Amino acid sequence: MVLLSKIATNDRHGENSPYFDGWKAYDMNPYHPTENRDGVIQMGLAENQLCFDLSEDWIRKNPKASICTAEGVNEFKNIAIFQDYHGLPEFRQAVASFMGRVRGGRVKFDPDRIVMGGGATGANELIMFCLADPGDAFLVPSPYYPAFDRDLGWRTGVDIVPVHCDSSNGFLITKAALETAYEKAQKDNINIKGLLIANPSNPLGTVLDRETLKSLVSFVNEKNIHLVCDEIYAATVFSTPSFVSVSEIMQEMEYCNPDLIHIVYSLSKDMGLPGFRVGIVYSYNDAVVSCGRKMSSFGLVSSQTQHLLAAMLSDEEFVENYLEQSSKRLAKRHNVFTRGLAKAGITCLKSNAGLFVWMDLRRLLKEQTFEAEMVLWRVIINEVKVNVSPGSSFHCSEPGWFRVCIANMDDETVVVALQRIHAFVHQEKDGNKSQGKSTKCLPKKLQLSFSFRRYDEGIMSPHMMSPHSPVPLSPLLQART
Ligand SMILES: Cc1ncc(COP(=O)(O)O)c(C=O)c1O
Repeated sequence: MVLLSKIATNDRHGENSPYFDGWKAYDMNPYHPTENRDGVIQMGLAENQLCFDLSEDWIRKNPKASICTAEGVNEFKNIAIFQDYHGLPEFRQAVASFMGRVRGGRVKFDPDRIVMGGGATGANELIMFCLADPGDAFLVPSPYYPAFDRDLGWRTGVDIVPVHCDSSNGFLITKAALETAYEKAQKDNINIKGLLIANPSNPLGTVLDRETLKSLVSFVNEKNIHLVCDEIYAATVFSTPSFVSVSEIMQEMEYCNPDLIHIVYSLSKDMGLPGFRVGIVYSYNDAVVSCGRKMSSFGLVSSQTQHLLAAMLSDEEFVENYLEQSSKRLAKRHNVFTRGLAKAGITCLKSNAGLFVWMDLRRLLKEQTFEAEMVLWRVIINEVKVNVSPGSSFHCSEPGWFRVCIANMDDETVVVALQRIHAFVHQEKDGNKSQGKSTKCLPKKLQLSFSFRRYDEGIMSPHMMSPHSPVPLSPLLQART
């Protein structure tokens, strides 16, 4: 007898993928600068840990905002018993203003349209429950965030139809690609209920330009389907071109049916608070707001969190400074990392947002196949010991791309990661040279017994060059496969 439900026993949670396998490899052997210098460096987690000093400083200066402090305890009972799925009015107000601020003050958001979800994960599922039935599908441009398969489809029964984008135009979403996917779905008798995009994109780290956004809005209007814009990375844009939200495009377009447009937002990336599970559905459709609010009972944001964030996000001076610092620090990190990669001859897709880079390792593939991509990924995780995520887990249509997260670690760890990558690339070149092979081929065995001087001094921080440098003990120097 089957004891569990079909949903519980199917594998649409997607955890059987290299994306999550990489996390497991990290969990089993996590890198630590002193305790475990041979461990795996986690570069598969899109977390923003660059500004915790700022939020911690705010918390210290505002003890009244936390209800578990002497200064805030008077509010404890009121907040602890609060259980309304509308959310605290001051929280919705603060989030609406924050969303407007993040979009440069060019649009205003109505607090009464804010529906809470458990992170963007819960918000994406909630909007699917509102818009589609089991067996219906959403178009999603690829490469896309791997957990969309779980979030959009596992419990709702909604399917994803990928819209294939490729590097020939920088993975831009074209009308032609949308039409091809839409028509194919129709031929296959699949009912397309909408299009979901992540802007800025995970994994690409790029923002959609005005014209592309307009073409997406006209596409959904022509087909009378929904457009869900996951804008979770809105404030991670660190250089030009600036972020354009679908909310601005709606104002600019002559015709747009607002009932079709929905924004998913979260504080997980922009404020670095994934543990707080603050997700938002902001819909321009009254029926979706009303039904979404009832459904949000399953994924509310704790009233304690709402209370704290209402105060934090209403502090305009703090928000201003946080957003400015966050984008400066992200820009710096991006610059250090991409320049470090460039010194090893590795390029990335040009990007200006997100907490990661989209690294091009096509020339390291033995052949241009997804099997070869997996071979390379295994070498990277097992030997180079950095957990990056292969493009195939993002449903990328071209093998050889890898997403590398860069904002979930400190400066020293970035240096170690770059050194490992440099070592790997040099070793490979040398290995191939000595075997008289083209540098395009991956050596069967990693013979990483090279001299230290080969390291690019440009990426050696003083810390790394100290007598206590962890590098001599690095597994890379001893690795044999
Ligand atoms: C595009 C995108 N949407 C949603 C999520 C889920 O975010 P949350 O932690 O708010 O659930 C992520 C997290 O990586 C993401 O990249």
